Amino acid sequence: MDTIRTDDLGALRAGLEGVVVAETTLSDVDGERGRLTIGGYPVEELAPNATFEQTAFLLWNGRLPRHLEETDLREGLAARRTLDPLVASLVHEAAKTGGPVIDSVRMAVATLRTTTDDLQDAGAVVAAIPTVVAAHHRISHGSEPVPPREDLGHTANYSYMLRGVEPTEAEVQALQTYLNTVVDHGLNASTFVARAIASTGSDLVSCLAGAVGALKGPLHGGAPGPALDMVIEIGSLDRAESHLRNLLARGERLMGFGHRVYRVRDPRADVLAAAAERLYASGVDRSLYDLATGVEAIALRLLEEHKPGRSLRTNVEFYTALLLHGLGLPSSLFTPTFAVARSVGWAAHVLEQRRQNRVVRPQSRYVGERDLVWPR
Ligand code: ACO
Repeated sequence: MDTIRTDDLGALRAGLEGVVVAETTLSDVDGERGRLTIGGYPVEELAPNATFEQTAFLLWNGRLPRHLEETDLREGLAARRTLDPLVASLVHEAAKTGGPVIDSVRMAVATLRTTTDDLQDAGAVVAAIPTVVAAHHRISHGSEPVPPREDLGHTANYSYMLRGVEPTEAEVQALQTYLNTVVDHGLNASTFVARAIASTGSDLVSCLAGAVGALKGPLHGGAPGPALDMVIEIGSLDRAESHLRNLLARGERLMGFGHRVYRVRDPRADVLAAAAERLYASGVDRSLYDLATGVEAIALRLLEEHKPGRSLRTNVEFYTALLLHGLGLPSSLFTPTFAVARSVGWAAHVLEQRRQNRVVRPQSRYVGERDLVWPR
């Protein structure tokens, strides 16, 4: 951690690392023990079992919904999926110019009308993002957007709008597990941005528009699919060991392995590995999956040789890529799909910030010149 003592302001902590600025009941990242708790539930318990609407209700209300409450939320989101014509034309233009999908998400969220009701605004943003992502994706590939369907749940409708065909049960289950798994993850950069904006008393839509901007960065949500690229580059299992050994000998990192916070295992990787196994067992073309799991086994062995005892394990990126690939999503959709999920977590943090608000106002240490004389 970059900690520098200063005379008058105390320790300078670059990146706010190790600084606790909020209490939360939303999620707990226990890196030492490799555990992730979401809304009180271990991720292994919640992610494969909850509908995405149940997860949203849990995070927004602090408890699971009763049956009618889940139906209400589901119908409320479904009713808000259609984009305003102005927003639809904005997305259309952005997609035609070939920009990244996440830019459309940022622009579209920023156009949404605000109310004084945070839950209403949260529903509006969360309902709109999948429609924006799917429309941009299809238009940029020369297809017409597929209008949303109100009779489908949030996850099934997202998949339907992307591909134009209703997903199978197995596909909905896999995508839903992914969305639940990454819905919230402590005070990461985009979540902190959402809370910082909320702390000024601004509206929820502004908070989430800012958070999308933070997520776009390659150091947060925005380096799509490097793990999959590595597997594709290896091409066949008989080449895997020499390829990986060469990477390590050159001092390169194996993509999809290791984690800054999780020191023993990344619990999200285990959940997504099980989901991927179920998905690929359901009849999806498994050639890349089989190659990837073969590469994974070799990579784990070589990493143990390379850094004995460090326990460099498979991370969330590796199985996210495999799962989303199996669902037919190209890597250009990985970050936007992350935003589909994380928007629920951001909104929950805004609601929580409102209840314990203090405006975010850290300090900086001035290291510039002083007492300069204006040039005359
Ligand atoms: N391949 C090869 N060596 C590795 C890897 C890896 N994937 N991960 C760590 N190491 C090495 C480091 O180089 C370091 O070696 P050193 O002691 O000689 O300097 C040693 O293992 C210990 O590293 P850590 O301190 O555990 O790792 P760090 O916290 O620096 O990095 C990170 C974590 C950035 C995730 C790293 O593991 C990495 O680059 N992984 C590959 C990229 C990747 O998969 N990124 C997605 C992460 S998931 C997410 O962030 C959402």
